[in-house]
Amino acid sequence: MDPVRSLIRGVLPPTGNRIALSVEGGPALERRAAQSLFPGKVLSWVDSGTSALALALLDIRHRRQAVPAPEVIIPAYCCPDLVSAAFYAGFTPVICDLAQNSCHYDQKALKNALSNNTLAIIAVNFLGLPESIDSIRRIVNPKLTAIIEDNAQWFPNRPGAQRTTSDYQTFSFGRGKPVNLLGGGLMVSNTSPPLETARRASSFTKRCLYYGKCAAYNALLRPSLYQALARNPLFKLGETRYHEHLAIRALPAGQSKLLTANIQTYWSHERVAEKRYRTRLSTINALSSLIDASNERLLRYPLLVESQKTRDTLIQKLNEEGLGSTKLYGDTIDRVDGVLTDRLRKAGGKTNAASFAQRFLTLPLHEGVKQHHIDRTVAIIESVVTPTE
Ligand SMILES: Cc1ncc(COP(=O)(O)O)c(C=O)c1O
Repeated sequence: MDPVRSLIRGVLPPTGNRIALSVEGGPALERRAAQSLFPGKVLSWVDSGTSALALALLDIRHRRQAVPAPEVIIPAYCCPDLVSAAFYAGFTPVICDLAQNSCHYDQKALKNALSNNTLAIIAVNFLGLPESIDSIRRIVNPKLTAIIEDNAQWFPNRPGAQRTTSDYQTFSFGRGKPVNLLGGGLMVSNTSPPLETARRASSFTKRCLYYGKCAAYNALLRPSLYQALARNPLFKLGETRYHEHLAIRALPAGQSKLLTANIQTYWSHERVAEKRYRTRLSTINALSSLIDASNERLLRYPLLVESQKTRDTLIQKLNEEGLGSTKLYGDTIDRVDGVLTDRLRKAGGKTNAASFAQRFLTLPLHEGVKQHHIDRTVAIIESVVTPTE
């Protein structure tokens, strides 16, 4: 694409629906709307998805104080925030390989990773592709090992009670998440956790600053403006890095006031790009059986191709045209910048996770993706990858 056209088209962000800036209903209504998704459960509102995970782990540790060196199993390809939450709660993260051509655990590797210290397993819903909680259940003793469903990358697609057999569910309202409030998290459990997380009041000024930040974020999602960040080498957008988790705080009032409106906006989004990619890319995607098995809304379209070379060519060609493709984490968790590998336990190999990290890319699905982006994305992918893969 010539430079002038590319400048006019700009760059699509990889994720990011606009934040609905409407304050509806008040706290009682918010609580009712969210509570109706999880009837009978305890909802703990916190400042991030990492805090939600850390709170679930603290609760588990609190119940099993006799185990002096608790461990939590995490996928060998995952977000470094899982490691941050584990360290914060005093757990050793144990990394476990993925199944071949999958974003989910290899069941044999998972069995081998279990020890007398395994108090928890984090089951990640990967971009809308849920782990099989029932398969994990079959290999763990429910009295000894709790299952935390990490739903940071997914949110219920419709109103109505959610069914799950996991012990805890966590959600994130961070930047680029399904319900985006620029920060926030939710931990859903059967009983009250050991830490009180009552909602935080915030001053009028703080709330105004927060709403200003949301408005600026919405403006930056426009491809014409986003390119100023994406094409500037000084900004390392989307870089995967480990950050130490320092505290669990309650959800600030500014965020909680926008919750209902943003859940409703999320439910109202059409899934145009997703539907097209689900049909057009199915024959070239090694993840298509997982994708076809669920009609849950995807946060980004997950694409696993045959080789690292094909993946890298695709990312280069798509991003030359500003189409918002990413590698996501780019490597296995033990090789992510800043992760202290000597504090992790590796259970067996990580061959499948390493191969996944090399061959994986994401395509944006947010409301800013227009028909011309979809057409160009499909055309580029079909010109690079043949359906025989
Ligand atoms: C799978 C997963 N879990 C947890 C988190 C942490 O969420 P937060 O950024 O709200 O702390 C993320 C964030 O990207 C994530 O992708």
